[in-house]
Amino acid sequence: MTANTRSDESGIDLDDIGTNPTANPSFSDLIASRLSRRSLFGLGVGTAGTALLQACGGGGGGGTNFPILPPAPAPAPAPGPAPAPAPGAAPLKLNFNAVAKSLDDVVSVPAGYTASVLYRLGDPIAAGVPAYANDGTDAPATYDRRAGDHHDGMTFFGINASNKWDPVNASRGLLVMNHEAITPLFLHPTGQTVVGGVRTVADEVLREFYLHGVSVIEVNKVGNTWTYKQDASLNRRVHTLTEMTFSGPAAKTDALKTKYSTDGSKTRGTLNNCANGTTPWGTYLTCEENWAGYFRRTKATDDPKRTAKEIASFNRYGVASTGRELWATVTPDTADGLYGRWNTEVIGATALDDYRNGSNTYGWVVEIDPFAPASTPRKRTALGRFGHEGACLGPVVVGKPLVWYMGDDSQNEYLYKFVSTKAWDAADIGGGIAAGDKYMDDGKLYVARFNADGTGNWLELKLGVNNITAGYAGYAFADAADVVINARHAADAAGATKMDRPEWTAVNPKNGEVYLTLTNNTARPVGGTDAANPRSYNDPKGPAQTAQKGNPNGHIVRFADTGGDPTAVTFKWDCYLFGARSTAAADVNLSALGADNDFSSPDGMWFSQAAPGLLWLETDDGKYTDVTNCMLLAALPGKVGDGAAKTITNVDGATTGTQATFVGKAPGTDGLRRFLVGPKDCEITGIAESGDGRALFVNIQHPGETTPAANIGDPSKFGSHWPEGGTARPRSATVVITKNDGGLIGL
Ligand code: FEO
Ligand code: CA
Ligand code: CA
Repeated sequence: MTANTRSDESGIDLDDIGTNPTANPSFSDLIASRLSRRSLFGLGVGTAGTALLQACGGGGGGGTNFPILPPAPAPAPAPGPAPAPAPGAAPLKLNFNAVAKSLDDVVSVPAGYTASVLYRLGDPIAAGVPAYANDGTDAPATYDRRAGDHHDGMTFFGINASNKWDPVNASRGLLVMNHEAITPLFLHPTGQTVVGGVRTVADEVLREFYLHGVSVIEVNKVGNTWTYKQDASLNRRVHTLTEMTFSGPAAKTDALKTKYSTDGSKTRGTLNNCANGTTPWGTYLTCEENWAGYFRRTKATDDPKRTAKEIASFNRYGVASTGRELWATVTPDTADGLYGRWNTEVIGATALDDYRNGSNTYGWVVEIDPFAPASTPRKRTALGRFGHEGACLGPVVVGKPLVWYMGDDSQNEYLYKFVSTKAWDAADIGGGIAAGDKYMDDGKLYVARFNADGTGNWLELKLGVNNITAGYAGYAFADAADVVINARHAADAAGATKMDRPEWTAVNPKNGEVYLTLTNNTARPVGGTDAANPRSYNDPKGPAQTAQKGNPNGHIVRFADTGGDPTAVTFKWDCYLFGARSTAAADVNLSALGADNDFSSPDGMWFSQAAPGLLWLETDDGKYTDVTNCMLLAALPGKVGDGAAKTITNVDGATTGTQATFVGKAPGTDGLRRFLVGPKDCEITGIAESGDGRALFVNIQHPGETTPAANIGDPSKFGSHWPEGGTARPRSATVVITKNDGGLIGL
């Protein structure tokens, strides 16, 4: 997200500013390795072999490439659908006219397609809850049964008549989605009421508690029209008040003990849920991204009460602010600390008397069973604590461990993967949270180092290896819990590569290769580049030609674990695609983008499961927004090594430098084409498809979010009125896109 009210003057979200002080490579610090096509390509292209693949985020499985699943009833055909391509058919071909860049306050899709609004901020998801008035007057107590704000990562789980998982179902499913954050201005009559730095209207805060988290809603297709079912029995909201348990190495340790859970076994809520993930047993993973900013902690008064290790931990995660929504300031607090829990300072006599450890209870991957509305979500601590963007499931093979790839979204943070100890047994499909206990609580956590020769290493994060010891200067590790709670410190110790803000990961079902969006990095100076983060330049913006430095437009790295084995500890990589204005210099526009496919700040990303090889790219941009709103592009990528080694020249004013890297084959418009442009001031994020790939669900996050607070009384000055138009307040919403002839989307 790119909240204006939480941004500095350069437009970067303050939550995304890095807190990584280490001197980790930075490949300019490594011994330069000779770059050659041979060294990159000589390893052979890894393939998934007989791997059976699973969607990581958008689809809970489904499509023709998912044979681990139990037999499913035939999907209900749409009226007159175009035939799906047979397995092994001719290569995919993009088959639509590119959508032009636009600054209009609408959702634009190609001719022959229809985009319909499905599920908006505030929409009721239980019987008896009134329609959303959208003027700040809706009753706060109803918000636990309304759509949250800032729709984000999303999965479609097909369901059958028995309300069980049916991955190929094409007409009925559960749409499970994250609600990352809020645009407070439009939630209350006149925005947040703040007097002297204090939230004085508790009801406003209650709305905000409920508007974060996750939605589970039933969606149905009748004819070619999709709607959500307001009174469905599986509908559910998970939010910041929902009880959650911990499992894995950090559960029931001292660092998770609070007044709410004196044995460290549980906490309340999840928030800043950004990207998502799935499991092969049919549960949803929601990922806690920029949680640190929600906690109130005054360094000057709290640091003296803390150990050196606690301070090092807070500093590395950036827990030092007034709290972004000032939730801790509401008085009086409730008996169960509804507001005070957001103050993570030492107040009471012991950790059992306050919430000094409150911020340790966030930053995790959370498992939710959407088929069991009464189940308690579980925070999986074995997957580490950081600014979790998403958790993309790798290739699923019976008898082999499971793997999830995970970005840590802040500038100069890292890429991680988790490999389960237990080998996958398809008998666990439908096993719910108990199956999660089996696969996600015990395994190996790794962080990535991208080497200058096009190879890479997965460095295990475990006490006693890779410099992760009590003697490590940055943080004296004590035990396994310490390692996962302070995974960023462990990754520093291991020597991971600082990346240009790791966002989503996606796994190509055709070959198991993994893609990683690196959205942008203003803290990547010329001289501070490396092979995998090779650009540093100035992309002037707007009439004033405001400087935008570092890697303002972002890029996408991809890699193949050695031998096509996701448990391998080595890989080879290249840069698949670079964001840029089409008019930028050749060493900036390295992918030779043109008017039909230029973009900036890639973020959401997902491979279709119904059409293996089709990649969807979404943008969360503030750099190219002088020319266009954020967008969705369709891509048909090749594979690692399909381009060439290249040495580029970086120029920022009078400063120049050269950087060797590997650039993927330029996509052309046959390989990358703009499919959708969103309304004003939005981010396009979250994507999923129905079991037959003939409905594409896309989230439009925070239209109009940079509207100045002073404009709340004058609708003519709102930054957007989407989706209702007129003088309405803007609302985040899910849209569903169908092809008018009922065919596959984009093809
Ligand atoms: Fe919430 Fe990393 O975007
Ligand atoms: Ca983002
Ligand atoms: Ca994101």
